[in-house]
Amino acid sequence: MFSTAFLDLAPLEEAGGTVVLPGSKSISNRVLLLAALSGGTTVVHDLLDSDDTRVMLDALRALGCSVVHKGAAVEITGIGGVASRTRPAGSGIPPSPSGGGSGWGRSARLFLGNAGTAMRPLTAALALMGGEFEMSGVARMHERPIGDLVDALRQLGCRIDYLGNEGYPPLKIHPASALKLDAPIAVRGDVSSQFLTALLLALPLVARQDVVIEVVGELISKPYIEITLNMLHRFGIAVQRDGWQRFTIPAGSRYQSPGEIHVEADASSASYFVALGALAATASPLRIEGVGADSIQGDIRFVDAARQMGAAVSSGANWLEVRRGAWPLRAIDLDCNHIPDAAMTLAVMALFADGPTTLRNIASWRVKETDRLAAMATELRKLGAQVQEGADFLRVTPPADWKSASIHTYDDHRMAMCFALAAFNSAGARVRIEDPKCVGKTFPDYFETLFSVSRTSRPHIPVLCVDGPTASGKGTLASEVARRLGYRYLDSGALYRIAGLAATRAGLALDVGHEHTIARLAESLDIVFTEGRVLLHGQDVTEAIRTEEAGMNASRVSALPAVRSALVALQQGFRQLPGLVADGRDMGTVIFPDAPLKVYLTASAAQRAERRHKQLISKGISTTLPGLRADLEARDARDSNRAVAPLKPAVDALLLDNSGQSVEESVAQVLRWWEEKQNFS
Ligand code: DC
Repeated sequence: MFSTAFLDLAPLEEAGGTVVLPGSKSISNRVLLLAALSGGTTVVHDLLDSDDTRVMLDALRALGCSVVHKGAAVEITGIGGVASRTRPAGSGIPPSPSGGGSGWGRSARLFLGNAGTAMRPLTAALALMGGEFEMSGVARMHERPIGDLVDALRQLGCRIDYLGNEGYPPLKIHPASALKLDAPIAVRGDVSSQFLTALLLALPLVARQDVVIEVVGELISKPYIEITLNMLHRFGIAVQRDGWQRFTIPAGSRYQSPGEIHVEADASSASYFVALGALAATASPLRIEGVGADSIQGDIRFVDAARQMGAAVSSGANWLEVRRGAWPLRAIDLDCNHIPDAAMTLAVMALFADGPTTLRNIASWRVKETDRLAAMATELRKLGAQVQEGADFLRVTPPADWKSASIHTYDDHRMAMCFALAAFNSAGARVRIEDPKCVGKTFPDYFETLFSVSRTSRPHIPVLCVDGPTASGKGTLASEVARRLGYRYLDSGALYRIAGLAATRAGLALDVGHEHTIARLAESLDIVFTEGRVLLHGQDVTEAIRTEEAGMNASRVSALPAVRSALVALQQGFRQLPGLVADGRDMGTVIFPDAPLKVYLTASAAQRAERRHKQLISKGISTTLPGLRADLEARDARDSNRAVAPLKPAVDALLLDNSGQSVEESVAQVLRWWEEKQNFS
């Protein structure tokens, strides 16, 4: 996962290959709750591992549920039908958590992050179970409505208080005295379908008689209710449905674990890759595995919308294959009520259409992770689109003139995921995704997955070069800049050190006489940089290449032109998505002459000698400052004057004298220069 402050995307050109998508968030959290309410143990396969499911698992644990990770599966041991066993029939007294199963605690404070799929159903279940519970979340969760659900539960006799603003979490739940199940329970369906889902999931707890729910207002997001009904069915509860207005949970309904259950891949997550195929799968198709024509998720119907815009999609039971069809995409005018989440992806596809696209009936966007209507309009405009934002619709006219933009993501995973697709614009506009880790809500490895099926020509992949004299701190600066950008890091000096080590181990003298033998050896080196370790032919050489002797040997082999040429392709191979920071003396001059940012780092000889002195002393090596300084000055002179790869700044390098700077100050300067190059509007 990218946990950087932002992620700068290279202009991307083409897509193809196969992605295996993570499990559905909607199914995962419903399954977890149902497993927790059932008797016995449920083995859940392909569960989504993300912020929202972690929040649910933590809550279930806090309530006393047993949660065991067994390999890739999660085993949930539920409360064992406590509700129907311990409550005197017809008493109207809520269940107590004694008896079979793991038993739920009578009190808990639950923090539910920004997971609506945990907050709403748990509120309903706990209000019916009885006990003292406090439910809170992040600030945005406290702005997301829950009043309609609380109203519905209060009709039943549940006791729920608002701890902050009326109608919003945080909530305090108290034990109900008696439940009134005779009259139908009315719940609004036009703000969030999660209120109805919450009631449907929780009411079987008390279904000693038929329990009827009546929806007030037009029910939105019906496909999510279908997922709820489908999952309830898998757990032994057959809800009767009359249209979308009336739902009956039959008397005697009891949660029954299916024993094992597989979570299908997330259809909303699939939308980004369906869109990607439509935008950029020009040479070979993009195959999506884990979700397909047999999906029970409503968002699978995004595929129809994508087809309307021009995507060429074929499908099997649990796979999709997408290619670019019409190009540019066709503008559409669509009621998106049935695909509220995936419709955000259409808004970004609209940037590539042949006219204005209108997405209608999406008022629910306003109460999601952020006000998605406002957020979408603001960010699309940054890229140069003309956007009309209505109360419940969005009209997007593609940019006449694309602009580079830093996309604010509002702690909303879908904003980050769909806007990444804008990097496929062919106008060369740059796209920065702020706070990329927000994708962790549903798809922690989203960007890695995106890069694995995206291609662009090498010159498009950004490289930042940091060259400079010995002991200038270029390694420290370059690796820190790489970390902050989420880019790869090439320590080219390490390659020469490895070549020197390999040659010495092969018994070769490091001189011109063996130049070509060493070069051939250098070409065939099998090097892996992993988690701070360096492996040569599978053997850890991290320490071996850091000795003074290894430095001397590196210096010798680096003066052999054939060895330098032998390492060119290897070094250039590090230029991969999302980008590279490369450090070493000829990075900006020979290896990556087209790099968009080159920094030549210097510091006074006195400063560098002092730094090296500290470094050596800390390693327990005794030296003197004047001696070190003399060595450095001699090495500078030798390095600058040598015929092969002399130390000199690239003509277009920016000079950074870090003599008086902290590492943080130098890093900040380089990042400022980098941002200036992006030219964000
Ligand atoms: O940066 P370092 O100390 O790890 O470098 C080891 C040697 O390799 C040093 O003598 C400089 C040389 N070198 C080079 O010639 N070209 C590079 N791109 C990187 C290092």
